[in-house]
Amino acid sequence: MIQVSYVSTVANPISAEQLLALLMQCRKNNAAQDVTGMLLYGNGTFLQAIEGDEQVIDDLVETIWADPRHEKIKLLSRRSISRREYADWSMAFERISDEGNWKVEGLKSFAASDFNYDYLVGHEPVVTALMDRYREPHFDQLIGEINAKDKVIEHLKAALAQVHDRAQVTRLALESLTEAARRGECSDALLDMCNTTIASVRPK
Ligand SMILES: Cc1cc2nc3c(=O)[nH]c(=O)nc-3n(C[C@H](O)[C@H](O)[C@H](O)COP(=O)(O)O)c2cc1C
Repeated sequence: MIQVSYVSTVANPISAEQLLALLMQCRKNNAAQDVTGMLLYGNGTFLQAIEGDEQVIDDLVETIWADPRHEKIKLLSRRSISRREYADWSMAFERISDEGNWKVEGLKSFAASDFNYDYLVGHEPVVTALMDRYREPHFDQLIGEINAKDKVIEHLKAALAQVHDRAQVTRLALESLTEAARRGECSDALLDMCNTTIASVRPK
């Protein structure tokens, strides 16, 4: 298995509807191909990590690289992994905004406005900390079994990340609908997409 991460910028301003469509496309395709990962978006900038079978990921990278929706693609890493770091996510998603909780380890001096191509390419530790937000906890085998309290905390963190992701996707769907209503054109495609969104955010 391999994991690839990269930064890129949008080729043209992207609407909430286009972003939602992109996310839905990622989740559908990735679930079918056993690809997992995360996608962060803010200030016209994408930071994505994808992982899975080597051939699948190499083919997907080629497809993503050729996608006209973004440009200035900068590969950050391509490495072998023995276990998935985003096993729970067909594509975790977060839109970077000032409302995000950035006062966590590794991001204390990070502001939402820093989420741009030049900053991310020049600040590897920040990229790592951002990617950690959705990474599964990985406990060193040498340390052995973690204690029950740590386990509960990790479960809570994972549950919180799921809730956060659902809120982000719901908000994107609502914004898409509002944009469409303002234009006076709510397409069947958008309604279908919103239906899929509702189904995907329903508590399991
Ligand atoms: C920033 C960005 C990230 C993308 N990530 C994925 C992804 O994780 N999985 C995926 O299948 N397509 C992804 N795509 C879309 C692909 O480039 C391509 O459009 C898609 O795989 C084609 O799917 P289709 O054959 O179902 O139309 C991404 C596109 C962009 C612009």
